[in-house]
Amino acid sequence: MAGRLTGKVALITGAASGIGRATALVFASEGARVVAADRDLAGCEQTVSQIEAQGGQASAVRVEVTDAAQVETTIQAALHKFGQLNILFNNAGTAETAISIMDMAEEEWDRVMAVNAKGVFLGIKYGAAAMLKAGQGGSIINTASVAGVVGYAGHAAYSASKAACLHLTRTAALELARANIRVNAIAPAFTATPMVDELAASSRDPERAMKKLAQAIPLGRLGTPHEIANAALFLASDESSFMTGAVMTLDGGLTIQ
Ligand SMILES: NC(=O)c1ccc[n+]([C@@H]2O[C@H](COP(=O)([O-])OP(=O)(O)OC[C@H]3O[C@@H](n4cnc5c(N)ncnc54)[C@H](O)[C@@H]3O)[C@@H](O)[C@H]2O)c1
Repeated sequence: MAGRLTGKVALITGAASGIGRATALVFASEGARVVAADRDLAGCEQTVSQIEAQGGQASAVRVEVTDAAQVETTIQAALHKFGQLNILFNNAGTAETAISIMDMAEEEWDRVMAVNAKGVFLGIKYGAAAMLKAGQGGSIINTASVAGVVGYAGHAAYSASKAACLHLTRTAALELARANIRVNAIAPAFTATPMVDELAASSRDPERAMKKLAQAIPLGRLGTPHEIANAALFLASDESSFMTGAVMTLDGGLTIQ
């Protein structure tokens, strides 16, 4: 094992799939003990099996990130299982299918905001409390999106919720800096996960939609979950020890145009 996270315990939400699962595997391969949390417990258990198959240590927990009691219980479960919490990756997220603001149901706005904004708030609230109590500092990473940096037509709730995630990141970074708890965000563009598959599947011609997404990116392709995981690894590790409140953009050049 390479060991960039040796001795650390990481809790990852959205770990049943996509970016969260890839990050769980990368963190574990670098020596972290991983708590894989998601509302999809079976998916988490698969992630744990993959980690164990590569010789790592991990545990699966079901969590609904919009539920304060469940988030608090999940933090406690991580402490109980592995005795400490050094890294928290608030990564669970959801998106609406493309729809104009005029046609978006109020319930859909609330659903997306609850997962992507409130879910990150609750993760920070209870995760930072545990880190403060332990007094060892820590690293919190939040998955935003380039949609939180620039507007995203057809995805008002997603875009607004990811912008909220970025400002939560900055505010938490300021509140927690003196305790050496660093809070950073990653902002990926289209990445090859089930979330993007669903986005393409909701269009009339999914194959063409996927090609269009790739063409919109200057590097000419979607990102891979592993590429996003590597950025999270850097933020989780001590190599980023002077970074807090920062946003790492991983978008193949999309937002520099
Ligand atoms: N894939 C992309 O193109 C892309 C781009 C930018 C940002 N992101 C963000 O990356 C993160 C991970 O997404 P992904 O692309 O890996 O998608 P994904 O659909 O593969 O994974 C998302 C995971 O979050 C879990 N989840 C959703 N709502 C939850 C809830 N309320 N409680 C607990 N778990 C919940 C799902 O069960 C799923 O396992 C999300 O925050 C997403 O917004 C994705």
